[in-house]
Amino acid sequence: MRQLLVFVFAALVFVSCKKEQTLTSAPIIQERSQSLSLPPEAIDQSSEPDLVRVELTASLIPNSDGQAYQYAYNGSVPGPTIRAKRGDTLEVVLNNRLGFPTTIHWHGVDVPWEMDGVTWMRAPIADGTSFTYRFTLNQVGSFWYHPHFNTEHQVDGGLYGMLVVEDPAEPEVDDELVLVFDSAHEDKAPHGAHGHGRKITHWRVNGERLPIYESEGGRIVRVRLVNTSNVGFLALRWPSIRQIGSDQGLLPSLQKPSRILLAPGDRADALLYIGENDFNIVTDIYSLNGGDAVGEPMDIMKVQVQNPRAVTTTVTWPFPGGTVTPDPGHTDILYAFAGSDRTGQWFINGEKFPNIKIETIPLGETKVIEIRNLSPTEHPFHLHGMSFEILSVNGIPPPYKMIEDTFTLKIRDRLRLLLHANNPGDWMTHCHILPHAGDGMMTVLRVQ
Ligand code: C2O
Ligand code: CU
Repeated sequence: MRQLLVFVFAALVFVSCKKEQTLTSAPIIQERSQSLSLPPEAIDQSSEPDLVRVELTASLIPNSDGQAYQYAYNGSVPGPTIRAKRGDTLEVVLNNRLGFPTTIHWHGVDVPWEMDGVTWMRAPIADGTSFTYRFTLNQVGSFWYHPHFNTEHQVDGGLYGMLVVEDPAEPEVDDELVLVFDSAHEDKAPHGAHGHGRKITHWRVNGERLPIYESEGGRIVRVRLVNTSNVGFLALRWPSIRQIGSDQGLLPSLQKPSRILLAPGDRADALLYIGENDFNIVTDIYSLNGGDAVGEPMDIMKVQVQNPRAVTTTVTWPFPGGTVTPDPGHTDILYAFAGSDRTGQWFINGEKFPNIKIETIPLGETKVIEIRNLSPTEHPFHLHGMSFEILSVNGIPPPYKMIEDTFTLKIRDRLRLLLHANNPGDWMTHCHILPHAGDGMMTVLRVQ
């Protein structure tokens, strides 16, 4: 009965929101626009200053025709934004009410191995049970969480959210938006094809198609971006992009890229300068078979200015600086990514997970890893447990010191990275195109 009431209430809220939207919406239903909504903020149940305690219940949500999602954390897609500050201990109680096992993986966070949410040598969290994830946050940045069991299906079904770790030294801006991107695909069938090989029809921002963010002019707004799509790449553009952060918090210095490329799993922090003109955030059509594909850029979010006014304030960020570490020249571990869409077979070093050879690094050592992409498709390389520094791509060092946990290899790329193996465990190493990982493009890097 209580559930029914909650549902009726939710339906009423939904209907009343809908009413408001009709004021601004265009007549064609597919083109309807509405105000940007932000994912709910997770409620911190702890009274201790350095402990953040959050409860997440994973459950089924009503999936009527045309509704994309089946699963949710606390009834919401995206799931609640978890917010903490550097040095906090985070405790997340996961209640599994899905009807099947699940886990939570803390993408980009250097957690102890038992908290990593993988099912390599560990059982997933059974339906009807709870598990408490507990770890200390030593990094700063925009991270995300998602299941790591039957991953492709569960992430596609709507299980994901953002984890923001703040640094009190970072300046405040006029507003901050968490923007969680997911792609929608041409096939109506909610599951089965998982967006694999299907054309992206549109993107959703925080669950909505083409939302409108309304703002006063003269403001600087920080956006925390994450691409949670199983397969879709974003190549985001808007007027005067200022990128301040990437996977692992602030960049060494302010960057002014012409666009921000976000592969599945990638994050970026950027500033929107909202001045005198409306603008759209668009994505170029990007193909994982090599750069730009044919097709018009797609609008994914509108920014509408209320009282146009030039931006006069400047914010100075405590960028950490830092120079690129010179490549030591030797290679300790080599991973060759191979396979093709034609065969649907994906390999690392000719192997398919879980039939793999485990590479081992002694705890505390620094190693050079080289990854070669021998396939005719791009792959976002992702490592659990530790972030890494990019030494070079095809022999060319990056323009600034890049610390990443997810980094895209274009076709034929040779990526070299430096890893300080300071976190003991069996760390999953895989492509973050989830169908590729699911087909076996995953291995284990052991630190002991
Ligand atoms: Cu976000 Cu192993 O993944
Ligand atoms: Cu891949």
